[in-house]
Amino acid sequence: MTAATPSSITLTRPDDWHLHVRDGAAMAAVVPDTARQFARAIVMPNLRPPVLTADQASGYRDRIRAAVPSGLSFEPLMVLYLTDNTPAEEVVRAKAMGAVAFKLYPAGATTNSDAGVTDLRKTYKALEAIQREGLVLCVHGEVTDGDVDVFDREKAFIDDKLIPLRRDFPELKVAFEHITTKEAAQYVNEADRFVGATITPQHLLYNRNAIFMGGVRPHYYCLPILKREEHRLALVQAATSGSAKFFLGTDSAPHASHLKEHASGCAGCYTAPCALELYAEVFEAAGALDKLEAFASFNGPDYYGLPRNTDQVTLVREDWVVPESLPFGEAQIKPLRGGETLHWRLR
Ligand code: DOR
Ligand code: ZN
Repeated sequence: MTAATPSSITLTRPDDWHLHVRDGAAMAAVVPDTARQFARAIVMPNLRPPVLTADQASGYRDRIRAAVPSGLSFEPLMVLYLTDNTPAEEVVRAKAMGAVAFKLYPAGATTNSDAGVTDLRKTYKALEAIQREGLVLCVHGEVTDGDVDVFDREKAFIDDKLIPLRRDFPELKVAFEHITTKEAAQYVNEADRFVGATITPQHLLYNRNAIFMGGVRPHYYCLPILKREEHRLALVQAATSGSAKFFLGTDSAPHASHLKEHASGCAGCYTAPCALELYAEVFEAAGALDKLEAFASFNGPDYYGLPRNTDQVTLVREDWVVPESLPFGEAQIKPLRGGETLHWRLR
């Protein structure tokens, strides 16, 4: 440890601008982990069945609030699932119930995306309303064509879908979710103020080798999939650059461990128990701990037009071991880094 290394960092309480908490017993198992770290989180709507209406989002919000342990204050920010058939009126109802965004899943792109969009043109009435109401379009930015290599799907999405979409809706707020490539980082950097992007801890920490080291490692499998080292470095550069366009979104995506360690393993890394600590590790390694607060606590609310939090959290330099496995309803879940030692700890 050098003299310049701080022994603690205090920052404005962060929010998580991309999170999955599922429903039922699984939700009850994971919401406390996020509520201990974050004041608010954007909750993804890819349940089965998906959260399609304002009424469904409102009921889901009630269930999440009921799962927050007493003594913690945590507010779920709701997102509706965009389909080919989302009516413009549903956008108005979503705004009225306090939803902050719609989520674009290209059909088949990821977990529970079967009801997603098959053709963007079918959503234009809804997109007009999303733009008019000032809601955000959260985008899973991957094409789904079987003939596009899985590592190239994000770049193809930018060229084939995102650029035309933004030409047609120049004032639509587009949150480019979980970006994974240098092309995406560059696109967002050069875009206007309507575009922002979230970056996950796993895409900042690992390149695609992590999935294959010494055998297939399903707990490093998420979508979009981890990419080459050059892309990881571009993401670290973007996150730590001080640009207000990039903000924290864990994409913590819990799946029971037996469904990840499976012949057809589910995509998703469960990072909620140690998310802020993982980001601190990345920012410290980049010599940019002074940029962590803006990334974690300012850029997200500023982009969404919400107030910044006013309370604070403190990370202390203290070794601790992430639990190898945690209860997840009837099953177990393995957090990313489970069984390994972290050097930052949220007090
Ligand atoms: O890895 C992922 N898991 N990527 C997604 O886009 C969805 C998520 C999930 O819901 O499990
Ligand atoms: Zn996600």
